[in-house]
Amino acid sequence: MRASVTAHRDYVVSQIDDRLYSAFLEHLGRAIYTGIYEPSHPTADGNGMRGDVIDLVRELKAPLVRYPGGNFVSAYNWEDGVGPREKRPTRLDLAWHTSESNAVGLHEFSDWCDATQTEMMLAINLGSRGLDEARNFVQYVNGPIGSYWGDLRKANGRAEPFGVTHWCLGNEMDGPWQVGHKTAHEYGRLASEVAKTLRAFDSKLELIVCGSSHSDMRTYPEWERVVLEHTYDAVDHISLHMYFANPTKNTAEYLALNAKLDGYIVAVASTIEFVRAMKRSRKRVTICFDEWNVWYHSKEQDGAILAGAEGWPHAPRLLEDIYNFEDALQVGLILNTFIRRSDVVKIACIAQLVNVIAPIMTEPGGPAWRQTIYYPYYFASVFGRGQALQLAVKSPGYDAEVADNVPYLDVAGVHDADGATLTFFAVNRNASEPIDMEISLQGFGSARVVDHWEMTNTKLEAVNTLKAQSAVAPKKATNAGVEDGVLLARLPPYSYSMIRLSLA
Ligand code: AHR
Repeated sequence: MRASVTAHRDYVVSQIDDRLYSAFLEHLGRAIYTGIYEPSHPTADGNGMRGDVIDLVRELKAPLVRYPGGNFVSAYNWEDGVGPREKRPTRLDLAWHTSESNAVGLHEFSDWCDATQTEMMLAINLGSRGLDEARNFVQYVNGPIGSYWGDLRKANGRAEPFGVTHWCLGNEMDGPWQVGHKTAHEYGRLASEVAKTLRAFDSKLELIVCGSSHSDMRTYPEWERVVLEHTYDAVDHISLHMYFANPTKNTAEYLALNAKLDGYIVAVASTIEFVRAMKRSRKRVTICFDEWNVWYHSKEQDGAILAGAEGWPHAPRLLEDIYNFEDALQVGLILNTFIRRSDVVKIACIAQLVNVIAPIMTEPGGPAWRQTIYYPYYFASVFGRGQALQLAVKSPGYDAEVADNVPYLDVAGVHDADGATLTFFAVNRNASEPIDMEISLQGFGSARVVDHWEMTNTKLEAVNTLKAQSAVAPKKATNAGVEDGVLLARLPPYSYSMIRLSLA
């Protein structure tokens, strides 16, 4: 099968915001406890943080990590997680039916972000709490010494303000499962007052208002319209979430789902434009896709804990999806979609980062390893920085439930003018046929392939586990080259490829 693509230096979607490759960590299951924090682990640092996990996270170069939830945040008291550890209360976490020891809180998480070379993006509880706690939290985190909250932070060991810029105004407030769920009008009013108050403290904060939890919500996309009408001029981004699943084991349908993601982004971008026009506003609110991933493998096994059958366990195994090769293809497709929509999607967070629906898994007292989905996320984050190209793609396709004529070739291109590189991320959705991909390179000068990695597997169900940690991993490939200004590459059936060209 052949597919032809044109890439022109001047046909650019947008400069990709590095924050597109951010991540998320929630106080949920073993994400924090025995995930990032395990004082008794042989690799633990002076703060009790696992060094092996820090190394794997650092490789990913995630610019921001959203914290501490998720559903967890909607009944969280941030004060529980600061001050002397021995005085911190154990609370019942209503979102996940577990116990929270609060051994890790803001200060510990900040130290971990320093160690992993990322920045905190903090979520505020607008479920069970409101304006007062929000302003106190922000002042504790960022306020000066000589004020009540700044002095308390200093007394807790940190004189310098943390300087956190990104703040999520609640989490999934459209969801009836959320503690403190609200209607769009209730939430919009509250978020607008909170935003106004936080801006009175610091006008430069980047504020993120909740959009829909997914595009099948009954309230979507009216939720976005109403919430933005209340908040448009006070916020910077609207948050969207989407999780992908293949419960019926229909690979063709599963691998077409990024068409649905694309439609979701386009509809919300249009809603933003609609409200902007209504408001006669010059400002452009953008999308913060602060939860996305595959999530379905663990749903059944989690049922008992979530129903309370095990009482209130501390850090049980929850949402521990073991990802297969097919999921790695899916993650490649999702990231390609974000790159192609990088004019409007400025922040995105893979959900989550460690143990809980995560690219990194750990064993208590044992090793940490990369799941299959680690790799496409790694390649996009490390090499997908620069300008997203508006590629013209001609590929045979197939009809799926979510879209007609889904191209077998899904490709995104990124031009890094400073680094003089051009990188393509390609997924072949075809089960049995390779794709001979020809990319006509226009306006880039001479080009040669300098790096080419491929993920293929005879089994879509292949996984990495404690016992076989690298069963699924990318391999160096050699079947791509540039001839007469055309990049030629043969993409095996069901494959993910990263091809990098030097333009020097
Ligand atoms: O990431 C897991 C959960 O998914 C989050 O807590 C919630 O925001 C979403 O529903």
